[in-house]
Amino acid sequence: MKIQETIWITGASSGIGEALAIEYAAPGVRLILSGRSEDKLRSVADKCQERGAEALVFPLDISVTDQLQAKVETLREKVDRVDVLVNNAGISQRSKVLETSLSTHRKLMEINYFGTIELARLVLEWMIEKGGGTMVVMSSITGRFGFPLRSSYSASKHAILGFFGAMDLEYSKQGIKVCMILPGRINTPISLSALKGDGSQKGTMDKGLAGGMDVRKCARKIKRAVRKGKYITYITRKEIILVWIYKFFPSVFRLIARRINPE
Ligand SMILES: NC(=O)c1ccc[n+]([C@@H]2O[C@H](COP(=O)([O-])OP(=O)(O)OC[C@H]3O[C@@H](n4cnc5c(N)ncnc54)[C@H](OP(=O)(O)O)[C@@H]3O)[C@@H](O)[C@H]2O)c1
Repeated sequence: MKIQETIWITGASSGIGEALAIEYAAPGVRLILSGRSEDKLRSVADKCQERGAEALVFPLDISVTDQLQAKVETLREKVDRVDVLVNNAGISQRSKVLETSLSTHRKLMEINYFGTIELARLVLEWMIEKGGGTMVVMSSITGRFGFPLRSSYSASKHAILGFFGAMDLEYSKQGIKVCMILPGRINTPISLSALKGDGSQKGTMDKGLAGGMDVRKCARKIKRAVRKGKYITYITRKEIILVWIYKFFPSVFRLIARRINPE
């Protein structure tokens, strides 16, 4: 079947990226699945192929920014265009400011910010050559306010909103659409790989996240928002109230958020 749409998803080996790949998988869709764990990507690719999609396993470590150009060039030899780039790969944090080394702060920014923007920059050039495309970026509601134990995570999620907001203004006339996604709590294993202050992984599942939105529901909402070309989409349940309270009553937000027992 002729390919009608090519969608590149980073962080496709787990959680939201995996669910999104499966949600998009259909005849006529080509999926490019990236992340570090090739075995996990292969198993996601199998599920996508069962649904009739073409799925290309394309492992990469987004934090190795000086290799991303070569990666994009390799991909350009395999596929003619990317219609949608879902900048989803990311890691979280569970450590207070004073417990966190600078190298841990840098590691979070390397993956969640620098790797993400460098890949987007390289694909942006390619998309413009082909007449346009959609840049989806996975921020978070903590891209709207700081949250305990997530100082640099929150900073990285604020930072990408600023970067992609500027990209939208600069390149919309060249056919580039930006869709910013701000999830609340989604039930994924993200807390397992969240960094502690010394850079080691937390290794346990947060209770709050386990009670979060089902990841397949989250994927359906993201797909719908991207299809509609929505600029900003919150994927939340009751957590959305924190966004509005912070926006209109920041002092009240601080009273509430200080009482939340963070994990
Ligand atoms: N779950 C939530 O409640 C929530 C809320 C707000 C925002 N988000 C955001 O949603 C995105 C996906 O998170 P998730 O919840 O689905 O977590 P997840 O299940 O842990 O998935 C994270 C994905 O990112 C990939 N990744 C991590 N480091 C990478 C690197 N250096 N290079 C390439 N890929 C890398 C992982 O693949 P490998 O390990 O195979 O590399 C994995 O596929 C993240 O950006 C996260 O910040 C999640």
